[in-house]
Amino acid sequence: MKKLAIIGGGNIGMSIAKGILKAGLFEKKDVTITRAPSQQLDDLLEMGVNATHDNVAAVLNADYIILAVQPRQAMGILKSIKDVLNAKKQIFISVVSGLNFEEIESVIGKDFVIVRIMPNTAISICESMTCMCCNHPSTDQFDEVKGIFDKLGMTLVIEEKMMSAATVLASCGTAFMLRYMRAAAQGGIQIGFHASEAQLIVSQVAKGAAALLLENGMHPEQEIDKVTTPMGVTIKGLNEMEHNGLSSAVIKGIVHSFSEMEKIK
Ligand SMILES: NC(=O)c1ccc[n+]([C@@H]2O[C@H](COP(=O)([O-])OP(=O)(O)OC[C@H]3O[C@@H](n4cnc5c(N)ncnc54)[C@H](OP(=O)(O)O)[C@@H]3O)[C@@H](O)[C@H]2O)c1
Repeated sequence: MKKLAIIGGGNIGMSIAKGILKAGLFEKKDVTITRAPSQQLDDLLEMGVNATHDNVAAVLNADYIILAVQPRQAMGILKSIKDVLNAKKQIFISVVSGLNFEEIESVIGKDFVIVRIMPNTAISICESMTCMCCNHPSTDQFDEVKGIFDKLGMTLVIEEKMMSAATVLASCGTAFMLRYMRAAAQGGIQIGFHASEAQLIVSQVAKGAAALLLENGMHPEQEIDKVTTPMGVTIKGLNEMEHNGLSSAVIKGIVHSFSEMEKIK
């Protein structure tokens, strides 16, 4: 059985670990997660995985290494582990937004198969949208990594230059979508539902709407047309939302996040 090291057991590192265990892709004994020395390891040990503050020890025998730390922490950590990495035996996977192949290769070398992934936190329940690219895309190693993430939701192979856009649409997108859902639930409470009922209704409606597009390959507007009876309440509500800038606010928010991503780079 292959071994996995996740450097940085934070929000996304832990989400990946949970998804991987849920999907049965690795055994707990073969997963090692590291955290900064200031952080507790108790919850990791309770999960049954290996936990340590020692990044070098964690990556020594790993087949896959996932770097899941903040961009400002990444280069220092890379430099601290580079001497024990082995390009012939290991595959390096980075979740770090904005950290490009050139920067990673400058530390660990161009021979390493490096896969950049941009998942979202729904990877914890195997429902991620994971965009990915590889510095050696025609290798069996890349197929191997894609195979893992295919089991943790959906994957889309993209060019590296699209990774910032993927960060916004696929990763930040979870928060954007959830904020809409919270607003819809708040509306639901005002028109008479208990909070828990409103949340349940909104959640299943969102799941159903997404499934209509994913399963039938329809354009959203084709499905909207089926709901909007002439002079009916749906079109009245929808137009009221648009008069208040719904589509414009969403587009502006996405473009704003993207321009902020470009500044970080
Ligand atoms: N969150 C998401 O949904 C998401 C999705 C896709 C991509 N990403 C990207 O993934 C990266 C991590 O994001 P995140 O949200 O998971 O951040 P996070 O919650 O801050 O997790 C990073 C973790 O790495 C730890 N760490 C810091 N220095 C370390 C060291 N020397 N050795 C081992 N661990 C160390 C941090 O500890 P301290 O807190 O003590 O520093 C923290 O627990 C970012 O680049 C982000 O852009 C995030």
